[in-house]
Amino acid sequence: MFPDSRLPDPKPLRRPRRNRRSEGLRTALRETHLGLQHLVTPLFVKEGLSQPEPIDSLPGIFRFSPDALLHEIERLHGLGLSTFALFPCLPPESKDLEASEALNPDNLINRCLRRIKTSLPGVTLISDVALDPYTTHGHDGILDPSGNVANDATVTILARMALLQAQAGVDYVAPSDMMDGRVRAIRHTLDLAGHESTGILAYSSKFASAYYGPFRDAVGSRVSGSYLDKRSYQLDPANSREALLEALLDEEEGADILMVKPAGLYLDILSKLRQKTLLPLAAYQVSGEYAQIHAAAQNGWLDLKQARDESLLAIRRAGADLIFSYFAPAIAAESSI
Ligand code: PBG
Repeated sequence: MFPDSRLPDPKPLRRPRRNRRSEGLRTALRETHLGLQHLVTPLFVKEGLSQPEPIDSLPGIFRFSPDALLHEIERLHGLGLSTFALFPCLPPESKDLEASEALNPDNLINRCLRRIKTSLPGVTLISDVALDPYTTHGHDGILDPSGNVANDATVTILARMALLQAQAGVDYVAPSDMMDGRVRAIRHTLDLAGHESTGILAYSSKFASAYYGPFRDAVGSRVSGSYLDKRSYQLDPANSREALLEALLDEEEGADILMVKPAGLYLDILSKLRQKTLLPLAAYQVSGEYAQIHAAAQNGWLDLKQARDESLLAIRRAGADLIFSYFAPAIAAESSI
């Protein structure tokens, strides 16, 4: 039987819904914010293009010629974005086993850095320090005779590569290679050459992820269709203690900003790292995370803007100060309407 209907209904003692009654209240009580100042725009540059070249697996993202890149940064800066991360896409004939082009003071990236810094001194530029766009095999380092990625020999090259980028005017060099000891070697080399103010944004907790596929298409480092196995240097997705160890070592070695990558699948790492360091944190919403949201939206299965904004807010909530995201240009275009 039903309980006696004359008894009063038990009323909830606490009603959190009161604080969610109106848009005004929800806005007033919002705990986390996402603004253009938090976004870093990744941009791909390639020589010899008469038109920006679309990247199939990254809808809405293009490779730009050096000229077009400058104009694109100028346009995005006008829309309110101020921080840009540059990635080169080289033709196969510029790649070799030693990644020699990485040490060319006049290579594509160094030329772009010089040019952009001269024309637009107010923007913040971040350049990738890793050998994968420059090696024939697509690994982030050079190989020893048995085919393993050689740590210390690679670090020597990375430090010289970072110095050339600093000389070209970059604000932050961003080692994304996951070699041991590279932050210390880069800091030492920059300081010896008088580049004390050039920062290091370290890709500290970078996992061996399936979600880098579209990026490898974009920079042309996907060799022979197979997905390159980088598990001897990138982190095991199962490991969180090791991810924190890597980040804390980079802090000790002199990094100015620590990064977790990918972002959305590793929010636990981000939030734990937030408790362990006082440095600013960056997170990279990688190409596969962007492609995944786009693909679902193209099928009508998710709302693009809602899924996008929720994904970015979650990364901020977990503790990221800066977010690298391919969504940045679209968000900037909307917020300037
Ligand atoms: C490599 C590098 C990668 C990304 C940035 N730098 C890919 C990789 O490790 O293979 C991935 C970024 C993305 O997927 O958006 N140095």
